[in-house]
Amino acid sequence: MKLEDEIKRRRTFAIISHPDAGKTTLTEKLLLYGGAIQIAGAVKSNKIKKTATSDFMEIEKQRGISVATSVMGFEYKNFKINILDTPGHKDFQEDTYRTLTAADSVIVVIDVAKGVEPQTEKLVEVCRMRNIPIIVFINKLDRHGKDGFELLDEIEQKLHINVTPLSWPINMGPEFKGVYSIFEQKLNLFTPSKQTIEEYVEINSLADPILDEMAGPKDADILREELEIATQVYPVFDKQTYLDGNISPVFFGSALNNFGVMELLNCFIQIAPNPLPYQTEERLVLPNEEAFTGFVFKIHANLDPNHRDRIAFVRVTSGIFKRNVFYKHVRTNKKMRYSSPTAFMAQKKSLIDEVYPGDIVGLHDTGNFKIGDTLTEGEVLNFKGMPSFSPELFKYIENADPMKSKQLAKGIDQLMDEGVAQLFVGKTSTRKIIGTVGALQFEVIEYRLLHEYGAKCRYEHITLYKTAWITSNNQAQLDDFINRKSGSLAVDKEGRLVFLAESKYSLDLAMGKYKDIEFHFTSEF
Ligand code: G4P
Repeated sequence: MKLEDEIKRRRTFAIISHPDAGKTTLTEKLLLYGGAIQIAGAVKSNKIKKTATSDFMEIEKQRGISVATSVMGFEYKNFKINILDTPGHKDFQEDTYRTLTAADSVIVVIDVAKGVEPQTEKLVEVCRMRNIPIIVFINKLDRHGKDGFELLDEIEQKLHINVTPLSWPINMGPEFKGVYSIFEQKLNLFTPSKQTIEEYVEINSLADPILDEMAGPKDADILREELEIATQVYPVFDKQTYLDGNISPVFFGSALNNFGVMELLNCFIQIAPNPLPYQTEERLVLPNEEAFTGFVFKIHANLDPNHRDRIAFVRVTSGIFKRNVFYKHVRTNKKMRYSSPTAFMAQKKSLIDEVYPGDIVGLHDTGNFKIGDTLTEGEVLNFKGMPSFSPELFKYIENADPMKSKQLAKGIDQLMDEGVAQLFVGKTSTRKIIGTVGALQFEVIEYRLLHEYGAKCRYEHITLYKTAWITSNNQAQLDDFINRKSGSLAVDKEGRLVFLAESKYSLDLAMGKYKDIEFHFTSEF
């Protein structure tokens, strides 16, 4: 019974946004409500944002801080809420993607003036692929921005989701007076202040004269009119439709002013999903199964250069994870136990004895884990949905210090396990190629190899458009392809065959000519 109760009260979600929309500010305000932090400003540095690409120290510093803030758990009204942080920087998109595999729902933050921005479009696309329930928070209402209806239209069109407002603003910018909560049928009046917790005025019906008194007769009438249109245009909110990923409720507010955040949170705990079942290659895993299962969705290197240890972030998918109990590491078929598992509670990490489904546990790792690894009580299970994507940028990586070749090899190996980038080794040339989704990763790799492994690397240019994993049931055709294209073939870390296409033209040509060969652009096929 205890397990069921713990599952029901858990909400594990990620906040996503285009950089600067207010993700960090919103996270911080949510933590304030949970009493997890006392002062605003505590989560501030939790991002790799406008960092100049050459500012390694800054990246490192921020990376360090984000260990503590990658997962922030807190208690609110007897709910255990886990916020998963996602990096805002576009070069860390794959990190975000993997983090989303550990979330049961998301909150998307949109800047009222900027509307839907490119990064948001990409992230929401990933959520839609997995049918993750989405709540939208339109932020910065204290500034002038787009009209409410215009924004809802834009969200539907650009994010390809259906929306329905659960709150509605009264003006914006300097005239911003507050929001009417459609969900709770309350008026929330705005007083600009960064710390205070908002106050509500109960309104029995929209005809209530208190509305005219509080908002002014003109604005009260506009609100009534707009709400009437909204109810005609948008469907009545239905929880199941939201849970199925088919409708997204929208809230308006100002995270900086701590406004509209409590409404969001109160609605969130009522409607957001508790830990969901997970699909493995073998079977569906239900959270209330007694046996513990979990998978690694993130690996974080320790900042201390003297200790090359790492923290593996494991999402518990079923049962109860217990300290000092032996679990099976499925990929290596080894039994391992953990004497100091870490729970993530807001800003601090603490030792924990039991971890429930939906929670994230941090396991100290000396190099055994890889993104996507599974832990069980003995069953062989492999979690699905942790693919690597075909990278977009490529460079040869060479050893710049012959005395340190072992260190370099180990460093590259471990960084790839962390999911920093992908490694391909040329089939004939045996040269190592690093593939990434963003330019910043090359610099991170170079810096970390030097500072964590004492190895120096050098990059060399390679003309490469895309890589594709190749498979075929037609062995003769595959052999022919391998013979003819040997110079353009490589293997990935798992030894799988990869075609290195120099240009779009050469890729199209190969795909057109070798009809029985399948070209895969994600590693899960
Ligand atoms: P991010 O994590 O999504 O990148 O955004 P973040 O919360 O850092 O917010 C980006 C900027 O927007 C910050 O200002 C923040 O103070 C501001 N902001 C967040 N919410 C609101 C809001 O409701 N209203 C207004 N007017 N501004 C808001 P900054 O100048 O870039 O940083 P800082 O100097 O305030 O730290």
